[in-house]
Parts: sequence; C-alpha cells; structure tokens
Amino acid sequence: MNIVRLTYASRLKKPLGHAALEKIMDVSRRNNKKLGVTGALCSSPRGFLQILEGPAAAVNDLYNRIVRDPRHSQVTLLEYVKVPFREFENWSMAYIRTDEIAKALLHKYSTHHVFDPFSMGPMQARVFLLAITELRAHYLAKQHAGSRTRSS
Ligand SMILES: Cc1cc2nc3c(=O)[nH]c(=O)nc-3n(C[C@H](O)[C@H](O)[C@H](O)COP(=O)(O)O)c2cc1C
Repeated sequence: MNIVRLTYASRLKKPLGHAALEKIMDVSRRNNKKLGVTGALCSSPRGFLQILEGPAAAVNDLYNRIVRDPRHSQVTLLEYVKVPFREFENWSMAYIRTDEIAKALLHKYSTHHVFDPFSMGPMQARVFLLAITELRAHYLAKQHAGSRTRSS
C-alpha cells in the first residue's frame, strides 16, 4: 500500500494549556502507533502545523477525525502526496512547542520572526518540521545519556 504524507495548518479556538496539549499528545501517540502513522506536530499560540504519514486509509481516517476536533479551527490542507518512504519513521508523533524553537531556525525557514503555520508552504513546513525534530532527537539523546551517567 502507498505511504502518503499529509500536511495541514490550523488555528487554536482558544489558548490550550500544557496539560491539554500533553493529553492530545498521549492520545495521538497511542493511536498513531496502532495505526502505523508517524509524523510531527508543532504548536504555538498562532496555531498548529502537523505532518501525518502512513497508509493512505489510516491517514485519511485520522485527518477526518482531526478536522472535526473542536480544539482547533480553520484546518487547512497544505499538502497530500504519495511518498516513497517515511521521513519521521522514529516518531509516532514528535511534538515541539514553538517557544522552544531557536530564532535562528525560524529565520532560516520562515520570513516571520514569530512562528505562524499559515505563513509556510508545504515544502517549507516539511523541512522545518524535519529540522526541529532532528534537534529534538539530539536533545532527548543527550538527556538520556545524562540520566544514564547520573544513575550509574
Ligand atoms: C492539533 C491536533 C492534532 C491531533 N493529532 C492527532 C494525532 O496525530 N493522532 C490522533 O490519534 N489524534 C490526534 N488528535 C486528536 C483527535 O482529534 C481525536 O481527539 C482523537 O484521535 C480521538 O481519539 P479517541 O477516539 O481514541 O478518543 C489531534 C488533535 C488536535 C487538536
């Protein structure tokens, strides 16, 4: 079966606190593992940017569910393409808050100083999410190495 990649941007209906976002991520990671869906989600006060990749049927069903989610609105499809392989294969859903994103990275991938998911095209969105996910992986690996050192 084909792998598809779906990218969308959306606006928050009202500000979501840390706990609410953590809840979305817990459910997402659990569901996505079962569905064989991988990807990344970036959240900011200006909205969400998300990439979903996996079997077409699973991605389509999930997107339909996400579009109807009352926690956001103006869900706008940026890209839907068949792809030869996954790019977020190690992430059931990588999650990045934009206040953690270095200004330098925004400068590289966006014309805006503040992250706005609606300011990005699909290609920009993809390379931006790949770059911040890679940074996230380095950070987590370092944290893991630190905790191993401390406990040994
Ligand atoms: C911005 C945003 C992104 C979401 N991403 C996912 C996701 O990747 N996977 C997922 O299962 N649910 C995601 N959700 C939650 C779904 O909209 C829906 O609430 C959830 O899948 C329902 O799961 P349940 O039927 O197991 O309760 C997201 C919600 C929002 C607001």
